[in-house]
Amino acid sequence: MSYQEKLQNLAERERRAEAGGGSDRVAKQHAAGKLTARERIELLLDAGTFEELDKLVVHRCTDFGMEKERVPGDGVVTGHGRVHGRPVFVFSQDFTVFGGSLSGAHAAKICKVMDLAVKNGAPLIGLNDSGGARIQEGVDSLGGYAEIFWRNVQASGVIPQISVILGPCAGGAVYSPAMTDFIFMSEGSSYMFVTGPDVIKTVTHEDVSKEDLGGASTHSGRSGVAHFVYPDERTTIEGVRNLMERLPSNNLDPAPRAKCSDPADRECVGIVGLLPDSSAKPYDMRKLVGEVVDGGEFLEVQSDYAKNIVVGFARIDGRSVGIVANQPAHLAGCLDINASVKAARFVRFCDAFNVPLVTFVDVPGFLPGTAQEYGGIIKHGAKLLYAFAEATVPKVTVITRKAYGGAYDVMASKHIRADFNYAYPTAEIAVMGPEGAINILYRREIAQAEKDGSLQQERERLAGMYRKTFANPYKAAELGFVDQVIRPEETRRALARSLALLENKREQGPRRKHGNVPL
Ligand code: HXC
Repeated sequence: MSYQEKLQNLAERERRAEAGGGSDRVAKQHAAGKLTARERIELLLDAGTFEELDKLVVHRCTDFGMEKERVPGDGVVTGHGRVHGRPVFVFSQDFTVFGGSLSGAHAAKICKVMDLAVKNGAPLIGLNDSGGARIQEGVDSLGGYAEIFWRNVQASGVIPQISVILGPCAGGAVYSPAMTDFIFMSEGSSYMFVTGPDVIKTVTHEDVSKEDLGGASTHSGRSGVAHFVYPDERTTIEGVRNLMERLPSNNLDPAPRAKCSDPADRECVGIVGLLPDSSAKPYDMRKLVGEVVDGGEFLEVQSDYAKNIVVGFARIDGRSVGIVANQPAHLAGCLDINASVKAARFVRFCDAFNVPLVTFVDVPGFLPGTAQEYGGIIKHGAKLLYAFAEATVPKVTVITRKAYGGAYDVMASKHIRADFNYAYPTAEIAVMGPEGAINILYRREIAQAEKDGSLQQERERLAGMYRKTFANPYKAAELGFVDQVIRPEETRRALARSLALLENKREQGPRRKHGNVPL
């Protein structure tokens, strides 16, 4: 073969790999409103930075006549490139080749980029679009999944792992995304479930569509499996790029610092009008966060799930921070099972990846009720307490209003080692709210007032007394549990100054294999 012929041979092999499952299947993919594996990578990475690996890998299966059906690449495009200038590793399953199903060779390609990502301290982004285990390969495929799962666990807390679901993701295949840090889903074309509608119909006689069972809105609003949902593939992939900009490349790097044109000492005048006079009235905590952070930009995580707690990424004076905030506009900001689990996982991500935590507290307590108790609020609430206590990243807390009972301790209080604790003059820090407290403290007086027909006035008088003594930040400030009572307008300045001071914070816990977080 001449040199020219050798070049042609290479070009032909590459052409076959790039053609995937062929033009008909590509047309079908497009007709379903989906992009191809390569088109998705183009959108994800900075232009011209993609370097493909294992483009010519083929499967090794000879059963069911598979030896005659080999497509170079074997249904997954893998390699590395850059996102906002920083390296990432990527795999993108190609539904046009055997339905993107996972063979031993397909799995080995994914494992190779996972190993490279960990070794080189770069994030891994997986674009998932697959019919699951390659049926013709049997246990070789199952073994491939388990190799990926094992690597997901090894990489956890070392590099950010992002899963983007852009088609089917079913059966045991869901467990790789489930073990990554963030799951993105695209509305209308992505779905995730362990057992599909047909199996469910047979076993439990429930009738449910694919979309209702495992579509994007189900997993963003009901199950909490998805962290980010966007209306289509392009916005989903843009969302991934947006998140990546805020994360460090690995657990040894600091979170990136952006240039900031928003003055660090800007007065947050908008907060004053936000806080209602009556502490019984709700306000939107997201607006308060928006007043404080750089340019009002807040990337909320799981915005449709457990809305009584708000978590997400923002910047303060250019520094990436993780925000955790009770939301009084939903369930009065009570902590419940879902909110505790949602926030605990977010806190642990931030702690693993050096993202400082800024906590805004307005919490009347844990949500009462049998559903919560039977559902295990004890162990689930403990997750959030554990996560905040375990976190050694800079922790700065602002109590805007209520901080009652156990929830006061949980929400990054001084006692579980927050570094700086601020409170507004509107803060109310006590064991419980006035109404509950007077019922216990003044049981006899209330009973007498009921007999006398002056119940209402007496309750108001007693609650007023209690409020005056306890529903303020000054007991906590006298004890040093709150470092400073600040005017709301000073919030941004106080946070920016604290975070700058804490930049070099180093804190290490005792040596151990790992803690035993209540699961
Ligand atoms: C081999 C597969 C495949 C698979 C799809 N294909 N899934 N080939 N193994 N798992 C092939 C199809 O034969 C077809 O080939 C092409 O991919 C496109 O599939 P269609 O069915 O035409 O597409 P569509 O109508 O969009 O349906 C998509 C689908 C369906 C819903 C995903 O293909 C499907 O139900 N597939 C099987 C899913 C499944 O049961 N997988 C195993 C799950 S258990 P041609 O040549 O016609 O284009 C599992 C265990 C993981 O994954 C365990 C981990 C521990």
